[in-house]
Amino acid sequence: MISAEHNDKLTRVGPGTPAGKLLRQYWQPVALVAEFDPKKPIRAVRLMGDDFVLFRDAEGRYGLLDRDCPHRNADLAYGRLEDGGLRCAFHGWLFDVHGNCLDTPAEPATSHLCKHVKQRSYPLVEKAGVLFAYIGSGEPPAFPAFDCFTAPDAYTFAFKGLWECNWLQALEVGMDPAHASYLHRFFEDENTEESYGKQFRGASSDSDVPITKVLREYDRPEISVATTDYGLRITTLRVLDESQTHVRVTNIAFPQAFVIPMSSHMTITQFHVPVDDHNNYWYSIFTSFGPPVDKPAMWEQRIQTYPPPDFRPNRNRSNHWGFSVEEQATQTFTGMGHDINVHDQWACESQGSIQNRTREHLGSTDKAIIVYRRLLADAIEKVGAGETAPMRPTALSAAQLVGPASYDGVDSGKDHDAYWQKGDAARRAASPWAKP
Ligand code: FES
Ligand SMILES: [Fe+2]
Repeated sequence: MISAEHNDKLTRVGPGTPAGKLLRQYWQPVALVAEFDPKKPIRAVRLMGDDFVLFRDAEGRYGLLDRDCPHRNADLAYGRLEDGGLRCAFHGWLFDVHGNCLDTPAEPATSHLCKHVKQRSYPLVEKAGVLFAYIGSGEPPAFPAFDCFTAPDAYTFAFKGLWECNWLQALEVGMDPAHASYLHRFFEDENTEESYGKQFRGASSDSDVPITKVLREYDRPEISVATTDYGLRITTLRVLDESQTHVRVTNIAFPQAFVIPMSSHMTITQFHVPVDDHNNYWYSIFTSFGPPVDKPAMWEQRIQTYPPPDFRPNRNRSNHWGFSVEEQATQTFTGMGHDINVHDQWACESQGSIQNRTREHLGSTDKAIIVYRRLLADAIEKVGAGETAPMRPTALSAAQLVGPASYDGVDSGKDHDAYWQKGDAARRAASPWAKP
């Protein structure tokens, strides 16, 4: 439980807010490359309550500009892509990807007005099929050498979805290992051979027991949290019997991503990016240490629930997230279908637009949340006092930020840290791209 004032401080990210200042010190995902309509590659982007237009010019360069035209503020997201840039539909002013004004066609032919106008533009970088933007002050940080950013394109797949709630409660679901035994409980196990691309449907490493069975039957996990150079490592143990322990290692990459295992060879790095205080997009980068990712299959599985171009799930508050009494009685804990992402979405959206944390009662399973909130509050204080934001890599330190390793396996020994470290090292050694 925290005070209303502290809750505001941690959750509100609009321009000028303390948490908004902090999050603006990091690269933020703003679009999937796959979401651009090739016929008109222009997207409106709302990020932390600020509005931008994102476009790809005829040369394939991306630009992110303030969305209101500097002439009389019409919406550039409705503009025309022509003559080397983006032309406003109101009076035809033309801007390149750097925000330079190239043309003010209604002005006299001798006019130099163009030279005095510049639309603000922001740095953009494409990584793993996601465009990241930097809208903060000063120079952007370097990119950490995380697996999701260093894997070759064929070994990653990116997708996104809109959740209609504050970003922090969405991120907090990713550092809460206990909920998987309840929220994601399936009463029957599927054939683990058919689990490709699905979360919590396969078997753990070194085991043929479906993960659904482990989560269902071992529902009092032992959780430990370690602070690391990238954020947090969360180790969750479920003791299966005298000789076997289910070990699951997940991470928080500060400030807004979690890194978790999806299968024995695939991990998910999921960012929770505030659209404003009441909405966030999750951006997931799936990274394979095994075979290249079947991108068409992963895309088809996901667009059923999250249709482009806005990726707003068709299960949402307006239809009770697809809730079925019959299904809740016979198939799933939630009665909201078999996509665990929808379960998480319900959990977060049902907490309210911004969770009222003055009414919560945290338990021992919430220990990572408690540690994370402390990290976040400290970082907000630091940036407010003019210090550098933490875990913001420089070109030198970025190479040190690797992994982070996430793992899901069944250990037949007693040294569980050694177990997952060995498993992760073996997986990297066998991988075509992640050899140390
Ligand atoms: S408002 Fe954009 S050109 Fe006039
Ligand atoms: Fe979940």
